[in-house]
Amino acid sequence: MTKTLEREDKQEEYLKDIKSLIKEIEEDDLKVIAFMEDTTPPADVKPKVIRFKRTLHLLKAIAAEGKVQKGVAKIMFYSPSTGRSKGLTPTMMAGLQYIEPKTETKPHSHNMASIYLVVKGIGYSVIDGEKYYWEQGDIFVIPANAVHSHINTGSEEAVLFDVTDSPLLENMGILEFKE
Ligand SMILES: [Fe+2]
Repeated sequence: MTKTLEREDKQEEYLKDIKSLIKEIEEDDLKVIAFMEDTTPPADVKPKVIRFKRTLHLLKAIAAEGKVQKGVAKIMFYSPSTGRSKGLTPTMMAGLQYIEPKTETKPHSHNMASIYLVVKGIGYSVIDGEKYYWEQGDIFVIPANAVHSHINTGSEEAVLFDVTDSPLLENMGILEFKE
């Protein structure tokens, strides 16, 4: 009873002669499988490198357009293989934030926690009413549900990299944002 089973998809074989019975049960958002152990597991997340130069071009274009906020851009990366998690792995999401000089992002909160690395720039974040100053290379943490905003006090652009646990919460159906 300690053998780990090879997961091989046998659904076609199990269900081929009883498709009409399955159809009576299935709907758009409801599917039937027989024996979980005989389904294929989700695709593996592949190793990857995301090029900073390319992402910087994109961030600048989004910030210049200013559709959400002039001078501010946020992009996240995900692997489609993580399904509804929409993560870069099934439990972690990563992203980049771009803030033009003398610009501050809108305060908001969410129930995902974030760990930030300052890639470029100098400024501070207001986290639950307190100022936390940062500069290039610094790491800071925003706990879940803390209201936060970022302020670029420098004369050049600021770029922040962050990793969050949003995929974990998304997968449980409880990811929430507040403004
Ligand atoms: Fe945030």
